[in-house]
Amino acid sequence: MERERLAKAVPYLLTWYRLSKRDLPWRKDKDPYHVWVSEIMLQQTRVEAVKGYYVRFLEKFPTVSALAAAPEDEVLKAWEGLGYYSRARNLHRAAKMIAEKGAFPETFDGVRTLPGVGDYTAGAICSIAYDLPCPAVDGNVLRVLTRLLADPSPIGEVATKSHFCEALRAVYPPEAGDFAQALMELGALVCLPNGAPLCGQCPWRELCLAHAAGKEEQYPVRAEKKAREKIPVSVYVLQCGGEFALERRGDKGLLAGLWQFPLIEGKDELLVRGEILAQKRAVHIFTHKEWHMTGYLVRVPEKSQDFVWATAEEIGRKYALPSALKAFFEWLK
Ligand code: ADE
Repeated sequence: MERERLAKAVPYLLTWYRLSKRDLPWRKDKDPYHVWVSEIMLQQTRVEAVKGYYVRFLEKFPTVSALAAAPEDEVLKAWEGLGYYSRARNLHRAAKMIAEKGAFPETFDGVRTLPGVGDYTAGAICSIAYDLPCPAVDGNVLRVLTRLLADPSPIGEVATKSHFCEALRAVYPPEAGDFAQALMELGALVCLPNGAPLCGQCPWRELCLAHAAGKEEQYPVRAEKKAREKIPVSVYVLQCGGEFALERRGDKGLLAGLWQFPLIEGKDELLVRGEILAQKRAVHIFTHKEWHMTGYLVRVPEKSQDFVWATAEEIGRKYALPSALKAFFEWLK
């Protein structure tokens, strides 16, 4: 079903692309060096912003060897204003690797090993430069495909991307470069995000399942953000003489290696014997969970050897406490 619809959609898209594609400077030839430079510049950057940089960059560094031989400062200067400068450093580093080998890599795996080249960019380079059936699937391509197929798979999930990569691989035409760019072009010019797509101009308007249902804007489906888990935590600030109990967190996971007042995650219970001097609540929000803490300031009769004991001044000076516990550190001062 899906396979048939996709296969049927390919020739319509290719014809539309040949009639409607934008005249962009990197579409004048298929030199892998040119394609590579353009694809790196187009990462997270708008086509309009890239045009001028692309032309000037190739005037300055017309070949991989010219780029490899240039001082890094000069490469960064040519990148100035384009942003994400690690791209320029990676490009330069990769140029040296290519110059050393003597030729631009000609396989997906070879291209994929260049610094700064991920799956998407490697797919784009191999499709465009070599007409290899290597899908390049990004958010724009996922939008176009999930609408065509009214596919509710949440984009953003690795499984969704792999699924569409495989689905595309099965229908790649010999004109792989045109096909890859046609998918991008459809997403950029017609099958727009944020607001109504221009279905009247779409080569797929009679094939598109989302359009047939009048539900274009319900695709793509984004995965629901998982609610952060709320975890009760009890924090025991044990005081004996002028000192307080500390323990070190394990070497792995959340707040690894930091020091803390003895605490119990997942439970809020008063588990210590002693005189409760104060009690207060505090919340700390991590990326994936929230600590809903109850702190107990407790005077204990003796210093258990299970803990390290330190004065408030020593704690402030020598022990790295997570900011989640700063609310209780105030008690010490
Ligand atoms: N975005 C990423 N690669 C592109 C290309 N080759 N043409 C237009 N937009 C792109």
